[in-house]
Amino acid sequence: MEFNHYIRMNDSSTPTTNSRNSFRHQPFGKVLEWNKTPDGLSGSSDFANFKLTVFETGIVRVQASRFESFESNPYSVVVQPKSIDFGLEEFQDKLILSTGILRVEINLQSFSLAFFDQNGKLLNQDDSFGVAWIGSEVTAYKKLQQNEKFIGLGEKTGNLNRFGNAYTHWNTDYFAYGVGDDPLYLSIPFYLGAHNQGHYGIFLDNTHKSLFNFGASNNRFASFSAEDGDMDYYFFHYPSISEIITAYTWLTGRMQMPPMWALGFQQCRYSYYPESEVYAVAQAFRDKKMPADVIYLDIHHMEAYKVFTFDGEKFSNPKAMISRLKEKGFKVVVILDPGIKTEESYSPYREGLAQGLFVNYPDGQTYEAQVWPGWCAFPDFTNPATRSWWEEKMAFYTQAGVDGFWTDMNEPASWGQCTPNLLEFDFDGEKASHRKARNVFGMQMARSTQAGASKQNPEKRPFVLTRSGFAGIQRFAAAWTGDNVASEEHMLAGIRLVNSLGMSGVSFAGYDVGGFAGEASKGLFARWMSIAAFSPLYRAHSMINTKDAEPWAFGEEVEEISRNYLNFRYSLLPTLYSAFYQSTQNGLPLAASLAIHYPQDETIYQSAFQNEYLFCATFLVAPIESFREISKVYLPQGEWYYLYTDQKHQGGQIIYQDSPLNYLPAYVQAGKIFAQQSPTQHTGMAPDSTLILHLYRGSTGSTYIHYEDAGEGLDYLDGEFLSREIQYEPENGSLKIEKAKGQKSSQYAQIRLFFHGFESLNPQVNGTKQDLKSTDFAFLDKLTEFDPLPDQVHPYFQIKQLPYIEFAHTAAELEIKGLN
Ligand code: GLC
Repeated sequence: MEFNHYIRMNDSSTPTTNSRNSFRHQPFGKVLEWNKTPDGLSGSSDFANFKLTVFETGIVRVQASRFESFESNPYSVVVQPKSIDFGLEEFQDKLILSTGILRVEINLQSFSLAFFDQNGKLLNQDDSFGVAWIGSEVTAYKKLQQNEKFIGLGEKTGNLNRFGNAYTHWNTDYFAYGVGDDPLYLSIPFYLGAHNQGHYGIFLDNTHKSLFNFGASNNRFASFSAEDGDMDYYFFHYPSISEIITAYTWLTGRMQMPPMWALGFQQCRYSYYPESEVYAVAQAFRDKKMPADVIYLDIHHMEAYKVFTFDGEKFSNPKAMISRLKEKGFKVVVILDPGIKTEESYSPYREGLAQGLFVNYPDGQTYEAQVWPGWCAFPDFTNPATRSWWEEKMAFYTQAGVDGFWTDMNEPASWGQCTPNLLEFDFDGEKASHRKARNVFGMQMARSTQAGASKQNPEKRPFVLTRSGFAGIQRFAAAWTGDNVASEEHMLAGIRLVNSLGMSGVSFAGYDVGGFAGEASKGLFARWMSIAAFSPLYRAHSMINTKDAEPWAFGEEVEEISRNYLNFRYSLLPTLYSAFYQSTQNGLPLAASLAIHYPQDETIYQSAFQNEYLFCATFLVAPIESFREISKVYLPQGEWYYLYTDQKHQGGQIIYQDSPLNYLPAYVQAGKIFAQQSPTQHTGMAPDSTLILHLYRGSTGSTYIHYEDAGEGLDYLDGEFLSREIQYEPENGSLKIEKAKGQKSSQYAQIRLFFHGFESLNPQVNGTKQDLKSTDFAFLDKLTEFDPLPDQVHPYFQIKQLPYIEFAHTAAELEIKGLN
């Protein structure tokens, strides 16, 4: 078929040949012409244009526009299409594009698409409405597949399976949101679909306000719409959901390796001041032997809430304070709010005005709204000049020794919560109104903050924690789920939020432990501390005018439970750090909802089980409310060991688990390996020189990739790391520790290898028979019995006579045999 070029459209106006009623549904219409392009296909109807681009064997981009040139979002996708061989077959009424993994059928009568896997199974199919407009609003309509589950979509409340609900992407400051409320602070228009025929992913790359409807208020379709701009989505299919997430993070980027200290415990409060209080809190962690790495300075560190200032009364010598805290092993993270107080005597305001760095009205007047400092102007972070300026300004903090940055209120928030849509943003030279720019504002603030931290401290790894963001935010910052509430349901909802962020590229995420608004009960706080030990970001925070909420503020029992889980977290750092490194390489979450690995298992979606997740690909965490002394846990297929006793359970069943407050239900998957070290008070302290490996007998093996580097700095990018694969092969009864890769030598001189669940052991290391020892082993310490009443006694679990061997941790290959 001959390709005719477009006949009727010009760049800036809507089509004129069509007497379109903008109040009504306007379908794409019949494809009148099409053309094969080097990486796909393009064509048009008499109303609109389309383009299909093969990005990768399992990724096809679909664009449809009412205009001649396609619009795109310059902020989320970081790669170009790979050049992939694809086939194109032409039929009377349809075209078939195939890549080997994916087959796309394009119905030429209506430009509606159907996606199939390589075996011809239907994954996703447009409703006959296909892509259509109502005025500027563009929608893709998808037929609901049988038993279809919708998962992911970033920071969204609600159930793991989003079927029957609709969600809006419009970054919103939402204090004390309800556990079903929407939208929140951060938007990622990427979701996964799973049904009887298979699974797929869809990323709508349009920054306007968008709406995802997963069969809400209708029984015909799922749909996604954007208020304006083009239909521009990426369709993903790979054999597993993990591979889809890896592909999505190939497209939108992955997190950088954070500094080791950011994996430690972080204590926040709105706000710790004056400096004597900051010291007191830091000292209390050390005195009470509760490991911690970070203390936060919230808005009271500033003079009148003005960013790039310290309140001279509350903090007379910030540099000296920060350096004293560093001596105690604490890093300081400060809050950065975007609002710049409109005060003539305040130099950031004068500079921003003089250099044209603020968001303006279309007539050039500076936009002002109220936030903490009162009336403020807002740096336009979509302007490269603003970002460079901000990067320079950050020297104010780095020179004082600040190590991390917390970008808050960056939706952007302002009192009234209704930023006018006519505001103008640079949008990296493309110019855009607030409608198009809002959702990326927070991400660009985080980007600029990360770049500023790197610019000011090129030797260090930046740490940025952000509230707002958009697809791709993982490249710049970790995220937390904003102003949650001290309630049992919020504790569980936070887990789903973090798991959903993890399915959407944001591996490094967490919630305010204890709840930001309101006050946690003792039980709630203890449970939250235990659950969050298994969260990528482990940070406690609480609101102004609430009771103290540090882990010792709830009495001795909670203090001991918290200490136990803090110590457990710190002992797990080798596993955690290795998992973070893996995530920088493959984009997979550290906290992985069971839907990633068991998408077809109906039980995981039930409300009692939907919060369960795999942490560091090893631990099945089954979070439950603090008041439940017995809980129902679903163990998916396979075999599982109860972490604290090694009791073995068959998977594929629901079990009843005693869940006293001092033991959070957690299991290790049979066949897995994980690593521990001696816990320290902070990550800057060296552990002892033994790397503890735990091997769990199973019928299927696994590979754990152990990773070490300096924990800070960028030398790891030049080979200063150590990585070694540790493979368990049950069929050979062996554990192989591959030759170490990288230039760094390990910080651990010996390995202690514990054997869980083995019956007959005759271990040899590289052919030499080993002395099999054993010991009673406990992951958590015994709680002191403060209350002599017998029914108040806490259980204490040990694994009796756990066998182990010890051997030198040399860089050459080590093969341990005789493990049956
Ligand atoms: C916002 C943040 C919260 C912070 C407070 C004061 O509510 O979400 O974490 O403590 O502002 O800065």
